Amino acid sequence: MKDSTQDDTTPARVMDLLARMSLDQKLGQMLQPERLSVTPDDVRAHHFGSILSGGGSTPGENRPTDWVAMNDAYWAASMSDEEGRVPIPLLYGVDAIHGNANVLGATVFPHNIGLGAANDPDLLQRIAEATAKEILSTGVEWTFAPTLAVARDIRWGRTYESYSEDPALVASYAGRFVRGLQGDLGRDGVVACAKHWVGDGGTRDGFDQGETDIPERELVETHIAPYLPALAEGVLTVMASFNSWNGVKCHGHRYLLTDVLKAQLGFAGFVISDWDGVDYLDADYATAIAKAVNAGVDMLMVSVEWRACLEHLKRLVSDGTIPLTRIDDAVRRILLVKHRYGLFERPRPGKRYWSRHNVLGAPEHRAIAREAVRKSLVLLKNEGGVLPIDKGARILVAGRNADNRGHQCGGFTVAWQGASGNDFIHGGTSIWEGIREVAPQAELSVDGSAAEAGSHDVAIVVIGERPYAEGMGTCGGRRRRGRGQGRGGSTIG
Ligand code: GLC
Repeated sequence: MKDSTQDDTTPARVMDLLARMSLDQKLGQMLQPERLSVTPDDVRAHHFGSILSGGGSTPGENRPTDWVAMNDAYWAASMSDEEGRVPIPLLYGVDAIHGNANVLGATVFPHNIGLGAANDPDLLQRIAEATAKEILSTGVEWTFAPTLAVARDIRWGRTYESYSEDPALVASYAGRFVRGLQGDLGRDGVVACAKHWVGDGGTRDGFDQGETDIPERELVETHIAPYLPALAEGVLTVMASFNSWNGVKCHGHRYLLTDVLKAQLGFAGFVISDWDGVDYLDADYATAIAKAVNAGVDMLMVSVEWRACLEHLKRLVSDGTIPLTRIDDAVRRILLVKHRYGLFERPRPGKRYWSRHNVLGAPEHRAIAREAVRKSLVLLKNEGGVLPIDKGARILVAGRNADNRGHQCGGFTVAWQGASGNDFIHGGTSIWEGIREVAPQAELSVDGSAAEAGSHDVAIVVIGERPYAEGMGTCGGRRRRGRGQGRGGSTIG
């Protein structure tokens, strides 16, 4: 494979920056710590290429102004030119996977499995366009979406993050969602991230981060196929997956990351690891880092242990375990993404258009969300003509999930594991609140004890589950932790 650092399609500006950067700056660009473990001074001193918010990791009062202020501080530190430092603006990344749902008051859209039931690619693009604006309203430039998992076993706790078990349906959404998020990479666009590469939805027994043991033909036709439209649309980043393919972890899989994704499919952006995903490659951290970077991971998402990671990287380069050409290729890719996104030309987050025209929770976005909810509904049967229900009927509404916006929204909403109750979901409507609006004789009885044949004509029983995310939702599964501390592991409220 041609050494891509000599890639003649790389803009001169990128190659010039690369030539002027110290090794420390190059290695810093390859790290993405979590916000709770770094200050702006750390960004200035260690040159991080990106910072992320893990699910539920929110600044201040979790309002757009708090987010913009936080991003202004990180951006300013990244642009320092003191002591010969080359100013390179950092990218801030979040999981805006069904709206910018970390943030209080954001428009929350149905999770992907519901959107799959809508079977409407145009809708997906409009959801992505609205989500991009609500991300930009917080001074953030990058979302780890779309998830292109093809969930093959519904026991997988992340099935709800998959559009479908059908790769064709996932593919029909992939390019449109990337187009909605990235647009023309101008004022209204954010950096998208196709994830998780590859085979996350195909693990044995649906175990989260498990073993995807399938022939290459099935991997290509089922799990790689949906990435093709996303790559054709120019998705700028791809996230490596926790699962293994035929016994080798994707984070350390040179064939999948470099030979297939970059060489064969021509992916010119950069690959980011998942949350401490490098840790699982080896008990020895330095060995794990070397395996991941040499396999083709370009940026390391390191929740807490970024100091150790930097030290190991320096030693691994100095002793030749990681060739400098691999470092230069990774940094070139990161700089190329920032260049293509126009990040060098954008003012500081607080000065950008959507930071000053906050559209978080805008009525037109909520209208798209309501349309998505309507289109995501699936009627299984309608015996005896029960539906439609007369709005004037004496309706009993029951169930612990009847008046619980948090449960309706699911995981990755305000908190990593989601929220319970109505207090944290601003601007949404619970099922009971919606019915009450149109049916004056409706009555709520959470435990159903008010049910009385003489008093009610029809009952609506709402069945649901407490929100969860990742391994917390897999049948019997647990989310393994890397070296770093993890996010709060519980549902709030
Ligand atoms: C998680 C998820 C990934 C998410 C990342 C950052 O572990 O696997 O989908 O984007 O961490 O929160």
